[in-house]
Amino acid sequence: MNKPLTIALSKGRIYKDTLPLLEAAGIRPVDDPVTSRKLILDTNLDHVKVVVIRATDVPTFVERGVADLGVAGKDVLMEHGGENLYEPLDLKIARCRMMTAGVVGAAEPEGRMRIATKYVRSAQNYFASLGQQVEIIKLYGAMELAPLVGLADRIVDLVETGNTLKANGLEPLEEIAQISSRLVVNKASMKMKSSQVKELIQLLAEAVEKRESEQS
Ligand code: ATP
Ligand code: PRP
Repeated sequence: MNKPLTIALSKGRIYKDTLPLLEAAGIRPVDDPVTSRKLILDTNLDHVKVVVIRATDVPTFVERGVADLGVAGKDVLMEHGGENLYEPLDLKIARCRMMTAGVVGAAEPEGRMRIATKYVRSAQNYFASLGQQVEIIKLYGAMELAPLVGLADRIVDLVETGNTLKANGLEPLEEIAQISSRLVVNKASMKMKSSQVKELIQLLAEAVEKRESEQS
């Protein structure tokens, strides 16, 4: 008998990119979260449900066992702290880099550098690893604006094509981490629903490998 399984996903690029991988593992949501506005989606399998939540909430749902599995960006996991979760698989989707950036050609400020970011923990860890004392200014979005209006000297943000930085007269500086989305698993689910969870991990791993080999 199959035990119930709940998978936590966020809307947007993670949802879109995870769907084909789930499909390859035999799981197809019946509803579309964009048109139905439902937050709990049925799938073609009676025992599997998908919950659609904010990207930053995925680790919390999985850690606390209300979802057995989830997909979250490495950036989100670095901020949340991943020690209460298993992270068995890199899905290699939503790939980008976490970087520092500043106004093109701007010199390093004298004194303590001000860093605007929503990635407070990652930024703190990065500058601490360099032994550099900085002031972190927490923002929730539009980080690119901060150096332009004099709120900060640098930002820490995600960079994919670099177009957002360029459009705002900023340039990427140092790379903090390579980012992609990871499958995360609740620790108790890994034990209690071991065969189902491991089979799903295996099928997803095969789908990731197949997609990578087709792309190369
Ligand atoms: P929410 O609005 O729910 O807080 P969000 O705006 O961070 O979430 P998305 O923009 O869909 O949601 O990003 C989800 C994940 O995709 C991020 O956590 C990151 O791992 C990755 N990501 C974000 N921006 C990019 C990008 N430009 N290119 C590739 N991957 C990205
Ligand atoms: C992300 C990120 C950057 C941008 C980088 O924003 O926060 O602003 O992508 O991508 P690029 O290097 O290809 O320009 P997103 O598009 O997700 O918008 P949001 O932060 O408002 O969700």
